[in-house]
Amino acid sequence: MAAGLTLADVDLLDHDLFAEREPWDVFELLQREAPVHWQAGPEPGDGFWNVTRYDDVVHVLKNARLFSSEANGAAQIEWMEPDVLEARRNFMETDAPRHTAWRRQFARDFTPRAVAAYEDTIRRLTVQTIDAALARGDELEFVHDIAAVIPIRALGHMLGVPEEHLDRLVALGDRMIIDTDPEIAHVLAGSPEAEEFKYLPFGSEAAVEMSALGRPMLHARRTKPTDDVLSILANMRIDDALLDDVALDNNFALFVVAGNETTRQGMALGLLQLIENPWAMDALRADPALYPTAVDELLRLASPVWHFRRTATADTEIRGVRIAAGQRVVVWFAAANRDPDAFADPHRMVLTRKRDEHAAFGRGGPHFCLGAHLARLELTVMLQELLARVGRIEVIAPPRRLRSNFTNGLKELRIRVERA
Ligand code: HEM
Repeated sequence: MAAGLTLADVDLLDHDLFAEREPWDVFELLQREAPVHWQAGPEPGDGFWNVTRYDDVVHVLKNARLFSSEANGAAQIEWMEPDVLEARRNFMETDAPRHTAWRRQFARDFTPRAVAAYEDTIRRLTVQTIDAALARGDELEFVHDIAAVIPIRALGHMLGVPEEHLDRLVALGDRMIIDTDPEIAHVLAGSPEAEEFKYLPFGSEAAVEMSALGRPMLHARRTKPTDDVLSILANMRIDDALLDDVALDNNFALFVVAGNETTRQGMALGLLQLIENPWAMDALRADPALYPTAVDELLRLASPVWHFRRTATADTEIRGVRIAAGQRVVVWFAAANRDPDAFADPHRMVLTRKRDEHAAFGRGGPHFCLGAHLARLELTVMLQELLARVGRIEVIAPPRRLRSNFTNGLKELRIRVERA
């Protein structure tokens, strides 16, 4: 722990903290001394609750009526003005019964069985990506050369976005989600310039171009539906009506943002975990049956999403701490994943830990990650194909972290590989 760190020092809105390091020391302090912790905001009444214990995170996610995604957004900590929220609302920012009506329509395309049908395609594009990167030499920048390439292509196949749009889409999605890192965002979140874009999906300047790219594809699926996810979105009916263009834009952006950077970081942080534990790479090579639990253990340790946020709809309590109706409650998935009460020796990698008990995809609630099976498949295939081609992997420059308290991740991971 940083020497002398106290609760008064805790500021989970400080993106620089997350750029410097994974702040496990801060989360440990909170879990020990203030598991339900009030962080005051700059204005009176502007504060929010931080929940860092596993059981409490699960409690909030499961009790979706009490901790709403619809009342004031589902993910970002910042309070949303009602007109901004309405303009930007995607299906993640709804509660039952609306949420159930939406989610039901996508669910069948994301089951383990449905996703397994994409395995051959995912393996082919993974092999192409890894071989192309290795053909350039033994030194690579893993995030850019491999981890950023695979998820957009896998997602593109499921959504039905043609190959020629994918690079553009990934750049736009990055600008949208990493809007707190000046090396990535064109307009920084919270800056005066961002005001102009506040009614667009994710409040992002990149939304203009993303909508221009998505809408024609979605409109085309209305006249000629196919069997892809865009066809579902284009033709679904909510309250007996097709979606208007704003809802199409918002939900198209949600899929691009949700399925991309997250999985990229599962790969980048997951590989870094393996590099730091070379015994685990040997274990996976020796016993491929370990993959299902190992991939979940990597996701537990990596936790690509730091937090989501809910709004209390009634007065309630967590661990005896009183939470008032209307207050914001932030659930820190990554902290929950290293809660010693839930995971013995939580910072240690144990490839045989029970599968799927972590909270990296959420846990037990109606908003549990729709793409969890897809992400697991992509991560498994990437590791299988990479470890089949290389031996020892070493990090040759300090990894560079994203400046974001929302996405835990790397923007640069320079490695040198030994050929297998
Ligand atoms: C390692 C990769 C991924 C991680 C760590 C991740 C994490 C998460 C988390 C934490 C949530 C919120 C859960 C909750 O509130 O209970 C979520 C929701 C969601 N994820 Fe993922 N995700 C990943 C990959 C994907 C992929 C590949 C897709 C593909 C489309 C996707 C689509 C979604 C959607 C649509 C939601 C909203 C679901 C709802 O509100 O019903 N995610 N994800």
